[in-house]
Amino acid sequence: MDFSKATILITGGNSGIGRALAEALAAQGAKLIITGRNATSLKATLDANPGMESYELDVSSPDAVKRFAMTVTLQHPDLNAVIHNAGIMVIENVLAESVDLDIAERTIATNLLGPIRLTTALLPHLRSKSEAAIVTVSSGLAFVPRADTPTYGATKAAIHSWSQSLRHELRDTSISVIEIAPPLVATDLTPGQSANPRAMPLAEFISEAVSLLSAAETPSEVLVQRVMPQRTAERTGNFEAIFGMINPA
Ligand SMILES: NC(=O)c1ccc[n+]([C@@H]2O[C@H](COP(=O)([O-])OP(=O)(O)OC[C@H]3O[C@@H](n4cnc5c(N)ncnc54)[C@H](OP(=O)(O)O)[C@@H]3O)[C@@H](O)[C@H]2O)c1
Repeated sequence: MDFSKATILITGGNSGIGRALAEALAAQGAKLIITGRNATSLKATLDANPGMESYELDVSSPDAVKRFAMTVTLQHPDLNAVIHNAGIMVIENVLAESVDLDIAERTIATNLLGPIRLTTALLPHLRSKSEAAIVTVSSGLAFVPRADTPTYGATKAAIHSWSQSLRHELRDTSISVIEIAPPLVATDLTPGQSANPRAMPLAEFISEAVSLLSAAETPSEVLVQRVMPQRTAERTGNFEAIFGMINPA
């Protein structure tokens, strides 16, 4: 898939990985449509990037996703790629006296049902294109979880599995299914994360990920070097050791 000639929709394109990815792909020549919930950061992203288009969209709302898919495909008939980047990561205390299930439910609605619902709504349009892509964003934590964010890890493992199935089911169509599995990256996904010295600098991550995405033959999984130990942990027999590093006793 030649992303430099594509019209690409990125959910959560108003901050962090989504915004940086949108800017890098726009710099290569792609047409970018971004969505997010926060009108202020959407406007700031558009002001800094003339030529991008934006829509307010809460990906956890089934009705909003359906309405948005109709609007965006009418207004942008060239749309041929979607990057399901919007996501939340919130710490859950499973030992709390009163466990707040709202976190688990919001995480599943955003990280898992969001991509499933938006893909379903966009699929007839994408299938009409001669070349198209559905890009999911999982995580290194899909392969070795962080125990204090159990639902987050579960949604990312589910996105990995869902991407594998979707890729197989769409094998005879014009649509490629690509999964980006980032390692820990310096963004505001969780409080203090952008200043975490163990996090991969955002610009470094984007540069390596975009060069993988731009390869003559796009890989089905976009894996920067930093995420390889997590991605291959089961296969290499290092799962317990890496689990222990991520989750100190
Ligand atoms: N940073 C990492 O270490 C890391 C590692 C692995 C995977 N990832 C994944 O990368 C993706 C981007 O995360 P990030 O690190 O760039 O964090 P971020 O800066 O917090 O960005 C998250 C984005 O998702 C959007 N979003 C969240 N809930 C939404 C909803 N209900 N509807 C629409 N948009 C919503 C946010 O937009 P609003 O602010 O407008 O809500 C924001 O643009 C996520 O899927 C995350 O799980 C990140």
